[in-house]
Amino acid sequence: MIDPRDVVARIDGELNFMSSISLYTQEGVFRPIYKVGFNKGIYILKLSNSSLEDERKHYSREVAALQVARGMDGVTQLVRDYDLVEIDSGKYYAILKEYFVGRDLRQDGATNPKIEDQLRQIIYDLHLRGIVHMDLWPQNIVVSHDRTAAKIVDLGKCLINQKSGKRLDRLMQRDFDNLECLLDRLRRNSTS
Ligand SMILES: Nc1ncnc2c1ncn2[C@@H]1O[C@H](COP(=O)(O)OP(=O)(O)OP(=O)(O)O)[C@@H](O)[C@H]1O
Ligand SMILES: [Mg+2]
Repeated sequence: MIDPRDVVARIDGELNFMSSISLYTQEGVFRPIYKVGFNKGIYILKLSNSSLEDERKHYSREVAALQVARGMDGVTQLVRDYDLVEIDSGKYYAILKEYFVGRDLRQDGATNPKIEDQLRQIIYDLHLRGIVHMDLWPQNIVVSHDRTAAKIVDLGKCLINQKSGKRLDRLMQRDFDNLECLLDRLRRNSTS
């Protein structure tokens, strides 16, 4: 791929490339996440390869969920949806999101009761809006450096607008169980 500075400038001339935060997903799919400067602030520019069905889904689910989650403090908000952009003869979906300063729980797994309660509340609030997260892994949660605030940074695997009923109840319960499991693991790691 061409220089990320050119990629960023091509998507939006108002953005300045700062650094690449990640280039590949856990599964090894090319999905660049760039830190960019815009209007004296820092933002995240996330690209998804439109020729891959899973990537198209990731993008459209995340945009739909971020629209439903608009105004929620615990979720990094959607700032711009660029839709399809052409880069170096490939087509990508691109979105601009708020950047939350801190470290994800994979980089630094130290939590505390305040952070844990915030995360439970965020999942609860997402459920109230009809969003089931489905992907509660340490890398999708960022905690501020002073360890007083946490945000969910990735809604690309979520489910929205599901019919209410036992299946939805089970999926929501699974979010809570996954969160507790993750918090439990982090707590055990920090004391071992
Ligand atoms: N809004 C944000 N604020 C701060 N850091 C972020 C933000 N979005 C992403 N990051 C950082 O970038 C990493 C990758 O972001 P994201 O989870 O959206 O990408 P991904 O390609 O879906 O990754 P994966 O498939 O591993 O979950 C996160 O683990 C986090 O460290
Ligand atoms: Mg992720």
